[in-house]
Amino acid sequence: MFIKLISIIDAMRLVIYLALFCNFSNAVEDVKNQLHVFAEKISWINWEQLRDFKFNPDDTFDTVEMIRREGYPAETHVVMTEDGYLLVLHRIPGSNDSPPVLLQHAVLCTSADWIILGKGKALAYLLADQGYDVWLGNFRGNTYSRAHISLSPLELKFWDFSFHEMGIYDLPAMIKFITNMKSQPLHTYVGHSMGTTSFYIMASERPEIARMVQKMINFAPAVFFDQVESPIKYIFPFWRELKMFIRLFFHDEFLPQNDLLRFASKYICPQNFITQQFCANPIFLICGNDQEQFNYTLLPVILGVDPAGTSIKTILHYIQLSQASNFRRYDYGCEKNLLIYNSSEPPDYNLANTTLPIALFYAPGDLLVNSVNMKKLYRTLPNVIDLYEVPWHKFNHVDFIWAKNTPKLVYERAIKIMRNENLNNVTSMK
Ligand SMILES: *[C@@H]1O[C@H](CO)[C@@H](O)[C@H](O)[C@H]1NC(C)=O
Ligand SMILES: *[C@@H]1O[C@H](CO)[C@@H](O)[C@H](O)[C@H]1NC(C)=O
Ligand SMILES: *[C@@H]1O[C@H](CO)[C@@H](O)[C@H](O)[C@H]1NC(C)=O
Repeated sequence: MFIKLISIIDAMRLVIYLALFCNFSNAVEDVKNQLHVFAEKISWINWEQLRDFKFNPDDTFDTVEMIRREGYPAETHVVMTEDGYLLVLHRIPGSNDSPPVLLQHAVLCTSADWIILGKGKALAYLLADQGYDVWLGNFRGNTYSRAHISLSPLELKFWDFSFHEMGIYDLPAMIKFITNMKSQPLHTYVGHSMGTTSFYIMASERPEIARMVQKMINFAPAVFFDQVESPIKYIFPFWRELKMFIRLFFHDEFLPQNDLLRFASKYICPQNFITQQFCANPIFLICGNDQEQFNYTLLPVILGVDPAGTSIKTILHYIQLSQASNFRRYDYGCEKNLLIYNSSEPPDYNLANTTLPIALFYAPGDLLVNSVNMKKLYRTLPNVIDLYEVPWHKFNHVDFIWAKNTPKLVYERAIKIMRNENLNNVTSMK
């Protein structure tokens, strides 16, 4: 999931930007020209200054505090990756022998996305109620994992990563930490979108770590990605220009949480129907339109948590996947690819050896991951135990974590799979 959530200012930037591209998408040269003109026109606004706007919210959207407010115990652990990033793992601890599960968020999200729906609904709480030891990861670069033993987030080098590094470094660090502490394998890994992308990279590049995981549940797995239906697809072919353009606004960090977002989430978006629509529309536009499932009451919380920042390289890697038919490594361009990979094209990841049991959940209204890409993933993986289309025709990419009926439509089945219970109506696409 790309630009999943947006504040007023970010929304304005994005909407103008999308309007621009969608309207001119037929004329390549026009788009390129428009891009430059638009960039010039808008660059007089000092976004840095706006980002530094100070605001003290009464509400906190800290994962640990949100969990404690709901009456659950919460812990914070910091793990270090082999390349020096310090990642925050949140935990709703179970008993000593309760099986550990790791929930891993999508792009621009955090551990908090697994608790936004609240007690009795959010997956993290449902699993804690079922007696699991619940771990919530945070990938490098998000609100919680912005530290490194020697690099500062102010340095460009800090942001030189995509979900490739999350797969080969972040997940191994988290999974090793949990399995060491518990002296047992990870019972289940649940990934949403980028949480699945990075897992498959780990399974391809570090199979010894993937073997520490007994089962994997996918929500909207973003692996094969060349069938994006969202209007943002029109800007993808211009990703080289886009890179320059995004850098103008965000440098190498993309959509971090900041005080302005919190201000918008508290004072602007909740105001009335129109501002709510304005805040929520970018989500619908990009991820799929499902207003019936969207709980507007949660909008301030969602905007208090997301977007939580990532590297531009992560976004670009997704855009590259949307232009390639394979699931493959980052494309540095022919010359640099030869140096790094010894081939002019980036090498593919190998999914054929991902032998753990896998459940795939996908949504019919998802504009980012559609059924064609799902079928391809299903055919590629050797051990899919469940393929499930969420039975709500408008269900979209983010509904997996926010929708009103997700507990019923998605989590009930996911928990059955974890408990090895029989499933009714197993769908098949063979
Ligand atoms: C690079 O690739 C070529 C041909 O694909 C191969 O002959 C050569 O051994 C490779 N070099 C290295 C260092 O892997
Ligand atoms: C991966 O799978 C291929 C066949 O698809 C097999 O030849 C190879 O030995 C496997 N590699 C590992 C490390 O299991
Ligand atoms: C929407 O969210 C609010 C706040 O968490 C909650 O009280 C309400 O029950 C939710 N509505 C639905 C239909 O889920």
